Amino acid sequence: SRGFELQRRAGNFSKAAALERKAIRATAVEAEVEQWTADKLIDASEEFKAKALIKSREQYDEMYKRSVEDPDGFWSDIASEFHWEQKWDSSKPASSWNLDVRKGPIYVEWFKGGKTNIAYNAVDRHVKAGRGGETAILWEGNDVGRDRKLTFQQLQDEVCQVANYLRSIGVKKGDSVTIYMPMLAELPVTMLACMRIGAVHSVVFAGFSADSLAGRMMDSKPRVVLTCSAVRRGNKVIGLKEIVDKAADICSKQGFDVERVLVYDNENAISREKTPWKDGRDEWWQDRIPSFETESPVEWVDAEDPSFMLYTSGSTGKPKGVLHTTGGYMLGAATSFKYIFDYRPGDVYWCTADCGWITGHTYLTYGPLLNGASIVVFEGVPTYPDAGRCWEIVDKYQVTLFYTAPTAIRALQKSGNSFVTKYSRKSLRVLGSVGEPINPNAWRWYYEVVGDSRCPIVDTWWQTETGSILITPLPGAWPQKPGSATLPFFGVQPAVVDENGREQDGPCSGYLCMKAPPISLMRTLYGDQERYETAYFAPFKGFYFSGDGCRRDEDGYYWLTGRVDDVINVSGHRIGTAEVESALVSHSMCAEAAVVGYDHEIKGQGIYAFVTLMEGVDYSDDLRRQLVTTVRSEIGAFAAPDVIHWAPGLPKTRSGKIMRRILRKIAANQLDELGDTSTLAEPAVVDQLIELRGK
Ligand code: WTA
Repeated sequence: SRGFELQRRAGNFSKAAALERKAIRATAVEAEVEQWTADKLIDASEEFKAKALIKSREQYDEMYKRSVEDPDGFWSDIASEFHWEQKWDSSKPASSWNLDVRKGPIYVEWFKGGKTNIAYNAVDRHVKAGRGGETAILWEGNDVGRDRKLTFQQLQDEVCQVANYLRSIGVKKGDSVTIYMPMLAELPVTMLACMRIGAVHSVVFAGFSADSLAGRMMDSKPRVVLTCSAVRRGNKVIGLKEIVDKAADICSKQGFDVERVLVYDNENAISREKTPWKDGRDEWWQDRIPSFETESPVEWVDAEDPSFMLYTSGSTGKPKGVLHTTGGYMLGAATSFKYIFDYRPGDVYWCTADCGWITGHTYLTYGPLLNGASIVVFEGVPTYPDAGRCWEIVDKYQVTLFYTAPTAIRALQKSGNSFVTKYSRKSLRVLGSVGEPINPNAWRWYYEVVGDSRCPIVDTWWQTETGSILITPLPGAWPQKPGSATLPFFGVQPAVVDENGREQDGPCSGYLCMKAPPISLMRTLYGDQERYETAYFAPFKGFYFSGDGCRRDEDGYYWLTGRVDDVINVSGHRIGTAEVESALVSHSMCAEAAVVGYDHEIKGQGIYAFVTLMEGVDYSDDLRRQLVTTVRSEIGAFAAPDVIHWAPGLPKTRSGKIMRRILRKIAANQLDELGDTSTLAEPAVVDQLIELRGK
């Protein structure tokens, strides 16, 4: 019966619609690519290759071969470069796993029995090696002129103080801690402090609303919430403490009381007096943390003990608490960072992601610090005070490695080249892209204008669930085709499967799966192993299913074509259509809602909502605004619909299932491609919808 349940749930995933969408996106990308790459592949210069860690395709092929034929040996060698308080049992295989739902529970283990600590390896190890005086964090505030530098020694001191504080209030190994902070240097410090004591952090992006924060807190039941009074981003001030208070009230009503809230006093945004406060529960960071010792014992944890969780959107239901563990995550993060960014000592690395997303975990915090890199932590936005801010920061800190998202690239491209060319950018060596497919036009601008046709671009594909990058260029090793993430990283074994779950050979397109677990793959969904199995392993038996469509070309390069499920990728942020729909119907005048993605010039995808109102309610712009406000307060501003399309009825099959395929075509204004509508319960609703387009 369990097998049946798995099947039933996997049926949520509408294959016909998915295939179609994938095909559309693939063709669009293909057409654009052809224009530019017909005559040239983009390769790194001979000078770059000569100095690169991986200098050629042959060198990669050899390492890759070993990584898939002898993964235990490959990763054991790498693991030995880190500190293990107790080594794993090397008389047994380093890894053990099952990805096939027919063969029993899904599990993945690496180096089980070994004891280590990620924070120790990311901070103390460098201090012990005499690098305590080197720069760890270069913090740049929202406002020009506010900045701060922390050496590895100072970072270690602060991490220890916060770790001691957490211990003093009773936080222990395995306890959950919620972090709802803006991009202060204290954010990575707090994450590392949790890791140091074996507590499991759950960072919630500070753009999420009180409702979303509360939902995540109800799921993970944190011992403490760490936050900040308020933050200034661009010209806006956002009262984070107020949001935490609201979330705590929501939790209280549902039977969970937050015992303690530690608040960083950000006087640059709000005064202490104006910050909402609850005596007995709340305390100021600045009043507590400095009084703690700058030494603190390390909690040695098992390689398979949890390291952190991070909520992400799925195609159905509430957000999923992706749970990562310690050993595999540490090695995946560190190794991918090293080779993909071609890291060498002395590099200054800047990832523009927020720590609230997985990129901010693996490639702002853990990956680079595990390598001893100096990282830039930026509090502001790329367009404040103007669109030259990123390049000003690059020059100021002599940034060598830069990692951002296509949506930011497109937005900056729109602002014009003069904001870029005004700055030198000579320090840059490697440019990275993440979060969504990068269109060749943006790729070319990034390459030619930002990188002066000198810096290789790494278009990196991965997911919250995979923990680290899986498909990616290695900058010195092979030529690029703009728009393609190219080849699998070490140990990664992609499989492109058809709708029946059969692996395809050679050039093909289909669903992107993994036939062996990447070392840093999530180990479960927090408190919901069943959903872990149904969402990722039931759709294609024997494989981990990514939710993405992809094409593999005649050179074996992978082209990611976007999500094939009901997840939308807006500015690189994952949003489930079901979440937006449930936010919309929480408005008293909304009877039903159906949300789809559509191509958006800057955001990659925009949110298009079809809304059916309660009987007798009239359409109005005011109601439109109210609906958008509702989504903002239920989820967060970044999930606000771009379009609200009034829908007297929705196209449904006779069994009541909404035909999103048709809605996507209407949203894209591809009205002559609606396909067969005769199977609809009421074909006339389609004409009504077309009639109301733009009204
Ligand atoms: C998409 C972000 C194309 C993809 C790291 C994936 C990409 C989802 C790329 C994961 C890329 C990420 N090319 N698509 N280089 N990188 N994606 O969990 O659809 O926030 O499934 O992780 O982003 O989003 P997540």
